[in-house]
Amino acid sequence: MSDRYLDFAHSSFGKTFASMLGLPTPPRLRRPDAPWAGQLLEGKFVLIGGDDAAVLSEPLLTAIHGMGAGLRIVPEHVGLPPLKKAAAKLKLSLAGNPSAESGEPRSHALVFDASGLNSIESIRELYDFMQPLVRGLPSNGRVLVVSRAPESADSVLAKTMSMAMRGFVRSLAKEIGKNGSTANLLEVEIGGESGLDAPLRFFLSEHSAYVSGQTLSVGPAEGTSRIALPGSLNGKVALVTGAARGIGASIASVLAREGAQVIGMDHPSQEGALGETMASLNGVGLALDVTAADAAERIAAEVGPRFGGLDVVVHNAGVTRDKMLRNMSPQFWDMVLNINLGAILRINEGLLKKGLQQNGRIVCISSIGGIGGNAGQTNYASTKAGVIGYADAMAPLMAKRGGAINAVAPGFIETQMTAAMPMAPREVGRRINSLSQGGMPQDIAEAVAFLASPAAAGINGRTLRVCGQNWFGA
Ligand SMILES: NC(=O)c1ccc[n+]([C@@H]2O[C@H](COP(=O)([O-])OP(=O)(O)OC[C@H]3O[C@@H](n4cnc5c(N)ncnc54)[C@H](O)[C@@H]3O)[C@@H](O)[C@H]2O)c1
Repeated sequence: MSDRYLDFAHSSFGKTFASMLGLPTPPRLRRPDAPWAGQLLEGKFVLIGGDDAAVLSEPLLTAIHGMGAGLRIVPEHVGLPPLKKAAAKLKLSLAGNPSAESGEPRSHALVFDASGLNSIESIRELYDFMQPLVRGLPSNGRVLVVSRAPESADSVLAKTMSMAMRGFVRSLAKEIGKNGSTANLLEVEIGGESGLDAPLRFFLSEHSAYVSGQTLSVGPAEGTSRIALPGSLNGKVALVTGAARGIGASIASVLAREGAQVIGMDHPSQEGALGETMASLNGVGLALDVTAADAAERIAAEVGPRFGGLDVVVHNAGVTRDKMLRNMSPQFWDMVLNINLGAILRINEGLLKKGLQQNGRIVCISSIGGIGGNAGQTNYASTKAGVIGYADAMAPLMAKRGGAINAVAPGFIETQMTAAMPMAPREVGRRINSLSQGGMPQDIAEAVAFLASPAAAGINGRTLRVCGQNWFGA
């Protein structure tokens, strides 16, 4: 599915036409075409600041340096002491931010360590750092604020400032989306410090091209050893439901790109398409209705003898049957509830007994429809909101097993599902976000692969919106 207006607006005629009429030109987003790289920011620079009581400088500098990025600071920035101390300890050099005239490359990302903010005065340090720098952000640049999670704040003021960061990031994301840049917030719970590497890699790289204005929390992950994101899915066995086409096929493809053995499942009516998709990935096709009463047993029977067990389960299969509630038939209600939510609960219940490895990870596909609601979607939105609650409720159990469960909530994504929408709501749907365009199935797949990785330990029970900061429910 393609966005013809985006292509048109980037043609030479389209550029003139759009500027004459004052129409927006959606930015071209850069997406990865290769597996997670170790040095994925090689040749790029990250400009780092923080408040003068920040406590996360060490893990931040370690992770950003580990991605191959050059580390830059603003020499006159008041929040430098913790950064300088950490850099000296880690034997890392911090370069000064070059002037615009120097011809040096601009900094790809601005990262601010807000973990020590505890007063109105201290929050001024964030303003002083970001305000002069933000206009120099290149296209597809990144802003990331890293703060203490509100639950881990040790005072009223610290919690207030921590929440203030959410508003800051949401608003800045709306300002910088025009050039394809994103702003996000990474919240760190006490004990989550050792889990910063994977989410930093995600948020600072092309893998999060369509994620903006979002908050993600990382907490402790007892009983699991921290491993690096690149290569972490190599040899893992992953089940993806609804894998014949659309988002599911893309999830299967990105997991396979990362080295996973994929088992793609879809409705028996889609066996042909499923076979083709799986053949291109060396995957295994399983033609099975997710609502079959014995679905979990049949999955376990397919996977067990050949692969031992599942490391990853992605619940992607889903349908819409839209009608205003007053006109909705019980068949439409039951069908959507059963496929989008009932099947997830039943399959997981079975796989948790047999089929999923002890430390297995589950990712469920929700929707921003479940967050904002939508006229004509009482059935669909109930299921997608239910998925968010389910991931939250199941998180403690999954943590005990050494695994995790999370949800991804897509916004408007260019698939057959959205291509089937009438033209006017489709055009509105794809533009009402900070990046003025619909996402690609790959955007969802990148987020799923990140959350499916054991490197994302400590991220559990969360819902990550991949929606270009859609204004819906924001
Ligand atoms: N496309 C979007 O903009 C968007 C937005 C938000 C959420 N989502 C969610 O993302 C997921 C994938 O959406 P998509 O756009 O790729 O949809 P799609 O219709 O293109 O693909 C859905 C797949 O699920 C399969 N499926 C349906 N019922 C099944 C069943 N009973 N058993 C097994 N497989 C079944 C279909 O055959 C199909 O291959 C869905 O859960 C959807 O709700 C999509």
